[in-house]
Amino acid sequence: MENLDQNRLPKHIAIIMDGNGRWAQEQGQDRLFGHYHGVVSVRKVVEAAAEIGIQYLTLYAFSTENWDRPAEEVAGLMTLFVETIAKEVPDLNKNNIQLQFIGDLSQLPPEARTALDVSTAQTAANTGLKLIIALSYSSRWEIVNAAQILAKRVLDGQLAAEDINEPLFAEALSTKGIPDPELMIRTSGEHRISNFLLFQLAYAELYFTNTRWPDFRKPHLIEAILDYQSRERRFGKTSAQITSNEENK
Ligand code: FPP
Repeated sequence: MENLDQNRLPKHIAIIMDGNGRWAQEQGQDRLFGHYHGVVSVRKVVEAAAEIGIQYLTLYAFSTENWDRPAEEVAGLMTLFVETIAKEVPDLNKNNIQLQFIGDLSQLPPEARTALDVSTAQTAANTGLKLIIALSYSSRWEIVNAAQILAKRVLDGQLAAEDINEPLFAEALSTKGIPDPELMIRTSGEHRISNFLLFQLAYAELYFTNTRWPDFRKPHLIEAILDYQSRERRFGKTSAQITSNEENK
């Protein structure tokens, strides 16, 4: 941890928590066993992110496509989300962590939605780490939804089509007000973005590790941040421009 450059921490880290099912099956257990162990990693990584000084952490917990998994796994995951989130609220409050959910929450069972609303309200006043859970989320859904919001505003005469620009579009996304992630981590060896924050990850550094999500802990997070800090972020500029900007600071 002491090797981290405190002046170059990513403000926002996004994580695709992958590999729960494989981790469980490798041990002859069913997939839900992996998801239950995945919760331990969530707890440890949230704690570590807050300790390191990360301001926003987005976790991809359930994609729109995940609804097509076997009904038993979907039901087990919903129960796990509701139980875990309700149970974690006191600790979130103790650690000043604010919880937020993004995704097509209208697809969730009503009792799950109520539980999410309650935990969001109970942590709303916290001013520390913002923990964003993507649930029933897919980026294409979010982008199409944003297009509909803006189209309605144009139809209602509140907005001119030619005034639609990147910041305005970003405000119609579910991540409104949240800065783009600088670092995206995906566990368990897959090198894909899988419909996650496609608009917001435009300039993110991507970090892939073979570690399965249930094995992912604070040292893995630190390793990912150190890797991020070793990269030169050019945003389309040349290396020389970036170096001279740094020198003039
Ligand atoms: C991906 O592994 C993981 C999921 C689809 C679920 C993630 C859920 C948790 C970590 C549980 C707790 C989360 C919160 C926010 C309380 P996979 O099932 O795709 O694994 P596989 O690729 O090995 O099959």
